[in-house]
Amino acid sequence: MDLFSAYRLGPLELPNRVVMAPMTRSRALGNVPGELASRYYTQRASAGLIISEGIAPSPDGLGYARTPGLYSAAQVDAFRRVTDAVHAAGGRIFAQLMHVGRIAHPRNMPAGARAVAPSAVGASGSMWTDEHGPQPMPVPEVMSSADVAAAREAFARASRNAIAAGFDGVELHGANGYLLEQFLHPHTNRRSDAYGGDVAGRIRFVAETAKAAADAIGGDRVGIRLSPCNTFNDMPPYAEVHATYAALAAELTGLLYVHLVGSANAGYAETARAIRAAFGGPVIHNGGFDGARAQAALARGDAELIAFGRPFIANPDLVERLRLGAPLATPNPATFYSPGAEGYVDYPALAPEAA
Ligand SMILES: Cc1cc2nc3c(=O)[nH]c(=O)nc-3n(C[C@H](O)[C@H](O)[C@H](O)COP(=O)(O)O)c2cc1C
Repeated sequence: MDLFSAYRLGPLELPNRVVMAPMTRSRALGNVPGELASRYYTQRASAGLIISEGIAPSPDGLGYARTPGLYSAAQVDAFRRVTDAVHAAGGRIFAQLMHVGRIAHPRNMPAGARAVAPSAVGASGSMWTDEHGPQPMPVPEVMSSADVAAAREAFARASRNAIAAGFDGVELHGANGYLLEQFLHPHTNRRSDAYGGDVAGRIRFVAETAKAAADAIGGDRVGIRLSPCNTFNDMPPYAEVHATYAALAAELTGLLYVHLVGSANAGYAETARAIRAAFGGPVIHNGGFDGARAQAALARGDAELIAFGRPFIANPDLVERLRLGAPLATPNPATFYSPGAEGYVDYPALAPEAA
């Protein structure tokens, strides 16, 4: 397998195995993407597959400043302009559906929205707000069983909205300590109902949500992102992580792909192999790849596709640069989440003579 070989991913024919990893860029004023987003993604349309920034399936799913949603007609219309532009440029794009759960600040949420989570366990660390700078995150409200059902249905509805907006599919954000992982993890899930407790209870919400999304738009349009052993967003290590993910992966066999965020933490490699074995379908690996490491991972048979995050920020033509072995530009972290064009759509492609 070669990074630049084509790959058939369900209904999609990808021209190469380079995936653009989902990245929140905080340019969506009023939770609606603007013209800059069309330009940003179109510049990156040579990726085999683009996975969008995290998009909230419901107002409760928002929590960061200036992030988009897919629950209103205005958002669907605005994303339709983004996907039309990407398709016109020859690309393919999935919507990453991201419900942040407890990783939220009310000042970043619309009126009436609530920061909710499986249990009342606050996250350490602070959250940027445009009005008051970094603020501690409040302890989330515990989800009632009606809230759990509503969140699951919100993912299904947002999946339908994503298709209506012209996305080629959706990726459920089950990684990085957000709502879905908050259900998987015993530190954040202290529930005593059917959605907590043992492994079967803790994986239930994710399995049901995956099925609801697959029922809504077809399992061949739904992927999921997972990050076992990753402690980002105050998710401490736990003994049952391997058993949890092995059991979960067996519940996800109706989906299009599993996207794994790598970790240097103990046990990750073994758990990633167990997920791959139990899932049985295409796997995307992400985290710290360059061209050589990506080729080596494909050659070992670790994954079918490799996702690149930060390299895509500063290199809109990343696929071409990897193909040529050309030097990569370095992204500026100061503009990762700032509003406006700077650091978003102004990184140039290689000059024609260099290419
Ligand atoms: C600016 C920025 C925003 C990110 N936002 C998201 C996100 O919305 N959803 C997600 O799953 N991961 C997000 N990530 C994580 C990346 O998808 C990726 O896992 C991480 O950058 C590691 O891959 P890399 O070494 O290729 O950059 C973000 C990363 C960065 C740098």
